Amino acid sequence: MTCAILILNGPNLNLLGTRQPEVYGPTTLKDIEALCDAKAKELDVTVAFKQTNHEGELVDLLHAARGTYDGIILNAGAYTHTSVALMDAISSIMLPVVELHLSNIHAREDFRQKSYIAPVAVGQICGFGAAGYPLAIDALVSYLGAQP
Ligand code: DQA
Repeated sequence: MTCAILILNGPNLNLLGTRQPEVYGPTTLKDIEALCDAKAKELDVTVAFKQTNHEGELVDLLHAARGTYDGIILNAGAYTHTSVALMDAISSIMLPVVELHLSNIHAREDFRQKSYIAPVAVGQICGFGAAGYPLAIDALVSYLGAQP
């Protein structure tokens, strides 16, 4: 199956590797991109990797994904817990989105228990650190392959 996946990372994820390594691990975003490239090669799919700290730019990138990508893996960072705009964008683009977090947001502070992405995502992967990204690619490719 030919399929193109967009991996979208939100605020502060550019700092992975030095940002609270006790929570998010020692892996940098560049390392994660390499893990995703290796998984994409294994599954014979293509992945594009983007990061922005800006909510509106995430909305724009979600809109622009239409017609280019078959599905999206989204780590929206803190916007997960606040952004109705991201929820509305996902509802509007008719593309499957997998919600991803390095940490287990359900085992952390109360404010992280609420996700505006979860109700409009096909599923959520969290708590597996950097390994969650290749897991999310596996999950999305399998989801897309099961679509009629
Ligand atoms: C995160 C979890 C969010 O609560 C947090 O704001 C982040 C990272 C994660 O990957 O674990 O920035 O999305």
